[in-house]
Amino acid sequence: MATVVILLGGPGAGKGTQAVRLGEKLGLAHISTGDLFRENLKNDTPLGRQAREFMDSGRLVPDSLVIEMLFDRVAAPDCANGYVLDGFPRTEPQALALEAALGDLKPRVLNLEVADEVIVQRASGRRLCRGCSAIWHATFNAPSKAGVCDTCGGELYQREDDQEEVVQERLNVYHAQTAPLVEFYSARGLLVGVDGERSPSEVNESLVAALAAGPVETN
Ligand code: AP5
Ligand code: MG
Ligand code: ZN
Repeated sequence: MATVVILLGGPGAGKGTQAVRLGEKLGLAHISTGDLFRENLKNDTPLGRQAREFMDSGRLVPDSLVIEMLFDRVAAPDCANGYVLDGFPRTEPQALALEAALGDLKPRVLNLEVADEVIVQRASGRRLCRGCSAIWHATFNAPSKAGVCDTCGGELYQREDDQEEVVQERLNVYHAQTAPLVEFYSARGLLVGVDGERSPSEVNESLVAALAAGPVETN
């Protein structure tokens, strides 16, 4: 049976950083709904045009658009063995839609626990590569030359929604709409919480260990 891993956590908690590593380690596709939307924005597709106003203001894109895009993506051959979800689900209707689609397959849910103050620091210093989408940080994970990607030499840029007011709005939206999923998955015995306020490698080790430990028993 395929393996489906869900990474939960606030905006800037480190989902993308960890999902890339987990995907490589486990041989699973890394699916970030945020990255999929940004690709649609870049290519100026109809979906990208619909998503833009929500993303730029830090609000969630409507469920129907996200769910359709996600199910379309995970139907691709590279997801046959499973995938690591980064940024999905983010609302209860999204979680219910995924649950219905997975049927008997129970996902493994890992929650990256990071305080709001730390999230603000992470988002404000984040830099992304235009070439290969690698995630850097001006202080916490700096490339050897400022503004240039170590991996591919590409130019680094700052995300539109990493401005301070937008980060604050994303945090509000997270607490109102996404944080309840911690309870949703805990109640199903599927969630493991991991301290996300350590170095990326330490967090990664804990995530791998949590997955190796097997599903959590419900009482
Ligand atoms: P999305 O792209 O998913 O943004 P997000 O959830 O806000 O999360 P981020 O990508 O900002 O953070 P991350 O947790 O991936 O952290 P990262 O690893 O980069 O979504 C963007 C928008 O798209 C949403 O606002 C919404 O509009 C829309 N959208 C997407 N999915 C949707 C859905 N399902 N439903 C509705 N709308 C949706 O790390 C952050 C920074 O910290 C980096 O600089 C990194 O280098 C650094 N860092 C990472 N780990 C560490 C560490 N351990 N120590 C120090 N620094 C670290
Ligand atoms: Mg991300
Ligand atoms: Zn790059």
